[in-house]
Amino acid sequence: MNDKLLQELDWRIRVFDSLSFPTLILKPDKVILTANQVFLQRHGVALEQVVGRRCHDVFYGAEQCPNQVCPFNKVITEKTGSSVMRRHTTRTGKRLYEDRVFSPILDDDGNVAYVMESVRDVTRQKNLELALKETEAFLEKVILGSPIAIVAADRYGHILLMNPAAEELFEYANPFAVRHVTADMLYPPGTANTIMRQLKDGKGKLHGAKTTIINAKGVAIPVELNASIIYEDDEEVATVGIYTDLREKLAVESKLKVTQAQLAQSEKMASLGQLAAGVAHEINNPLTGILFYATLKLEALQADDPERPDVEAVVEDVKRCKDIVQNLLAYSRQSSPMKDIIQLNSIINQSLSLIRDPKMFSNVKIVRDFSEEMMLVHVDKNQISQVIINLVINAVSAMNGDGVLTLCTSRDKTQGKAYLEVADTGCGIAEECLSKIFDPFFTTKAPGEGTGLGLSTAYGLVKENKGNIHVKQTSDAGTTFVLEFDLYQPFHDIEPE
Ligand SMILES: Nc1ncnc2c1ncn2[C@@H]1O[C@H](COP(=O)(O)OP(=O)(O)O)[C@@H](O)[C@H]1O
Ligand SMILES: [Mg+2]
Repeated sequence: MNDKLLQELDWRIRVFDSLSFPTLILKPDKVILTANQVFLQRHGVALEQVVGRRCHDVFYGAEQCPNQVCPFNKVITEKTGSSVMRRHTTRTGKRLYEDRVFSPILDDDGNVAYVMESVRDVTRQKNLELALKETEAFLEKVILGSPIAIVAADRYGHILLMNPAAEELFEYANPFAVRHVTADMLYPPGTANTIMRQLKDGKGKLHGAKTTIINAKGVAIPVELNASIIYEDDEEVATVGIYTDLREKLAVESKLKVTQAQLAQSEKMASLGQLAAGVAHEINNPLTGILFYATLKLEALQADDPERPDVEAVVEDVKRCKDIVQNLLAYSRQSSPMKDIIQLNSIINQSLSLIRDPKMFSNVKIVRDFSEEMMLVHVDKNQISQVIINLVINAVSAMNGDGVLTLCTSRDKTQGKAYLEVADTGCGIAEECLSKIFDPFFTTKAPGEGTGLGLSTAYGLVKENKGNIHVKQTSDAGTTFVLEFDLYQPFHDIEPE
């Protein structure tokens, strides 16, 4: 051999020995031709102990190769490299992952003369990969199992993830239904942009924002939103929103508010009622005396007596005073009701027919939106008529005789309640007056036009009949009063009077 050839051989052998992965050269019948230094060191064997043996004999101490997925034969037939991952446990119990790479070495005719098998320890990578998979699976379980609605969207607004709780809140039937949805469709028009702006102003975070979402059925739902932008290498890649449905909380809050207001009202009414009852009693007796003597005097006067108009005026005014006293007694619940079982709708019709001055209704459209369901209530029909008349007169005067008056009845069988709503399209009640309208003598009307006794009387009468009265809503577009009575249930005992 000449020097050049020797030199060539020398570096080729050295290359093989310096490969940092344990490597074998195999003949097509799997007999080991040689092994590199790293292989011998790693396995603690001398070259003579491996050369001439079959590879499965060295690796597994087996006659036949037990590795069903070994690509050796494939490498021979297809003449291309291939690899297989092998997991094995060392004698000390350590779990290792090896990547075995088989590369064909071809002869001048293009046939496989040898196969080079190189073993790479990929335990570290594999463990990292497994840990990552486990974390991913865990996170997925946390997100999917969370009772809190979570939605993630990419920077173009395409939904990447909507967990089952969010599907329920947004009422999308399944993950496929979400496919064509973009983030802006989850909110009323313009809201998604506002949220993005707030997120950017808040350095990618938004805490406890109160907003509204629109679900798949078009229903607006008040929610609390916590959101953040996800960045990757300073670049915005996605947004995540966490939604809390506020419907129940708001309902409880508003119910609490109404209850508190009613409580305050009834406390005030109790003390005012006592006062009114005291005054009414004291004044009722002298008024009866004045009326008696004035009537006597009037009867004694001739028809053309010049004093007659004066005495007539006294009788008239005393009668008015007695009416006021009567109302005060009703308010302070000093009158005794005569209760009947009666249809709520029929009391309303009756009350409307009793209103004496049809002129004041000239331009008012009356809408009777009555429920057809059975609504029996156990009340004093004259007293409740009086209440309805008072409400109707107030409504008509708030509309200045021009507008729509709606009387709407309904019932809630589970609550056992019947409702009458009296709604007008009038001027509304100013915020500062709302807490006073049921007080006796509170009026915003000019002297002579209002006594301020209509609502206070109504309040007393409604309470007398175990009902409730309150303002459902008021604005400059109109006011709605609600009357509420217990539904009469034939098979329940009537509470003893
Ligand atoms: N439907 C209504 N729309 C607007 N304001 C109303 C309505 N009902 C009552 N009010 C207000 O409540 C006040 C008290 O009513 P009420 O007790 O009937 O006394 P009055 O009608 O004699 O003023 C009224 O003066 C008015 O300011
Ligand atoms: Mg009135």
